[in-house]
Order: sequence, then C-alpha cells, then structure tokens
Amino acid sequence: MTFSIRFDDRNVPSAPGQTVAAALWAAGERSWRTTRDRGAPRGLFCGIGVCFDCIVTIDGVPNQRACLVPTRPGMVVRTQPGVGH
Ligand code: FES
Repeated sequence: MTFSIRFDDRNVPSAPGQTVAAALWAAGERSWRTTRDRGAPRGLFCGIGVCFDCIVTIDGVPNQRACLVPTRPGMVVRTQPGVGH
C-alpha cells in the first residue's frame, strides 16, 4: 500500500519502510538542502547516515537525516536552507 508525503509544494509517493531519501530519489529529486556558505545544493551522498549531506526539515524539525528516517503518511518534508535555524 502506497501513500503520499509532502515535499515542498508537491506530493511524493512512498511505500511503507521506505526512507525519505529513497522516496525523494524515486520521485526524481536530487537535492533537498543547501549549504550554509554558498547555497550549493546537496542531497543523498553516503546513504547510510554518516555524512549528514542529506539533512532536511521533517514535520518542522530541522537537521533530520533523510537517508535514515522512514516515511509515514502525512509527513511534511521541506528543503532545508543552510543550518536549518
Ligand atoms: S546521505 Fe549521508 S547521512 Fe544521509
């Protein structure tokens, strides 16, 4: 059974057990944060929770690693600019 999560201004399909990063990647998204100094786009890199390149704001909480957090119905994911304050 699939469901949707919200990513910025659109719905993204997901399946139970899928991580946020996997759902975004499958939907064609390649970046979901920007660096604090230059605003360069970042997204999935290591995929195993080590590099923190994939941090994103989930349900209003910044600095969540998208490669580790499983999706759930109704989740709201936002692109995180800089350090997420
Ligand atoms: S991609 Fe490296 S911590 Fe998520």
